[in-house]
Amino acid sequence: MSDPLDLGILGLGNIGTVHLQTARAMDGVRVTAVADAVPANRRRARSLGVDETYDDYRDLLAEATVDAVVVALPPFLHEDAVVAAAESGRHAFVEKPFATDLESADRMIDAAEGAGVSLGVDHTIRYFPAVVEMKRVYDEGRLGHVPMASIGRVNGWPFERPPASRSIPDWQLDADATGGGALLDLGVHLFDVLEWFFGDLEVAHASTARQLDLPYEDTAVVVLESPQTGTLATLQCGFFQWEEPPEINMRFRLDGVAETLSNGEFVPDNLTLHAAKSGLSNAWRRATGQDPEYFGPTYYYRAHFRALADFVEAVQTGETPPVGPAEGRRTLELVARAYELAGRTDEREVVTP
Ligand SMILES: NC(=O)c1ccc[n+]([C@@H]2O[C@H](COP(=O)([O-])OP(=O)(O)OC[C@H]3O[C@@H](n4cnc5c(N)ncnc54)[C@H](O)[C@@H]3O)[C@@H](O)[C@H]2O)c1
Repeated sequence: MSDPLDLGILGLGNIGTVHLQTARAMDGVRVTAVADAVPANRRRARSLGVDETYDDYRDLLAEATVDAVVVALPPFLHEDAVVAAAESGRHAFVEKPFATDLESADRMIDAAEGAGVSLGVDHTIRYFPAVVEMKRVYDEGRLGHVPMASIGRVNGWPFERPPASRSIPDWQLDADATGGGALLDLGVHLFDVLEWFFGDLEVAHASTARQLDLPYEDTAVVVLESPQTGTLATLQCGFFQWEEPPEINMRFRLDGVAETLSNGEFVPDNLTLHAAKSGLSNAWRRATGQDPEYFGPTYYYRAHFRALADFVEAVQTGETPPVGPAEGRRTLELVARAYELAGRTDEREVVTP
C-alpha cells in the first residue's frame, strides 16, 4: 500500500469544509494543513484535528509539507493558487469553475504541464449517485437513441434561506471575482454532465436574465445540439429559489425512443427523512464504538467524496485524474459561447408579479 497523501486545503469556507470532512473519512489521505483568511474558519480546522493552519494560502504553499492541495478559494484566486501550487511541485484538486475565463484556464494548464503535476476539477454533479446510475443505464442502451435531454439546477446562491446565519462574502457580489453569474457558477456543472453523456456540444441558443439585484445573470436557458449523438438538449439554471441541504434542486431527464429516465427515480422519496435516519443511526454507531457510515443517503456529500477520492487515487497511482483541466476548460468554453449568444438579451428588463 502506498504512503498516505498529505493534503492541504486552501480556503475553509463553505465547500472547503466539505472537502476537509470528506478527506478525514478517506483512507490513504491525511489533511495536514489548512489556510483560510478568517480566524473562525482556522479554529474550525483545529477543532476538526488540523493543527497546522495559515491565514494565507501562499504561506501554506511556502511552508507546509503537503503533496497536493484542494483549491476551495473564490474563483478569482484559482489561477494564482494553482500556478503557485504547480511551481512548488504540488498537485491540485480545483473547485469549479476551474477559472474565471479561458485565458486564465490556459495559464493554469501551462503551469501544471510545465511542472509535471496533476490537476483535478470538482465537477461534482457527474458524481451524484443518481447521475452515475443514469449514465450506466444510458450506456447499456436501454433508452435507445435519445433525441431529447433536459438538465436544470436552481438554488438561492449567494443568499441563504432566512434567517441567514452569515453575511455574504464580498467576492460573491462582485462579478469580476465570480467571473459570471448562474451560467458560470451552476451551468459549468450541467455542461459537464451533458458532454459526459453526449460528447462535444454546440451551443445553438442562449438567453440570460436578471430578476434579482445582482451584478450578474440569475437566470439562464441554453439550447445545445450534439453532432455525435443527434441529441437536442436544454439547460436551465438560476439563483432564485431557496434550498436547504440535503435537498438539491437538480433535474436531469433523458427522453429516449424506448423510455424516459429522470434522476428523481434514483433519489429516496423523502430525502430529508432518510438523512435524519442516517444521522440517528450514526449517533448509535458512535455511541456503541462502531465507525459511522458517512455517506448514505446524503448523496450530495457522497458525490464530493467520490470526486476527491478519484483525484487522490489518480495522484497515488500516477494516473491522469478522470475529471481534469480539459473538462474544466471545456465548460468555460461553452459558458463563453453562451454568453456571446446571450449578449443581446442579458440586460432585458424583467417584470416580476
Ligand atoms: N462543487 C460544488 O458543488 C461547489 C459548491 C460550492 C462552492 N463551490 C466552489 O468552491 C469555491 C469556493 O466557494 P465557497 O462557497 O466555499 O466560498 P466561501 O466564501 O465560503 O469560501 C472561500 C474561503 O476562501 C478564504 N480565502 C479568501 N482569500 C484567502 C486567502 N488569500 N488565503 C486563504 N483563504 C482565503 C475565505 O476566507 C473563505 O473562507 C468557488 O469556486 C465555488 O464556486 C463548489
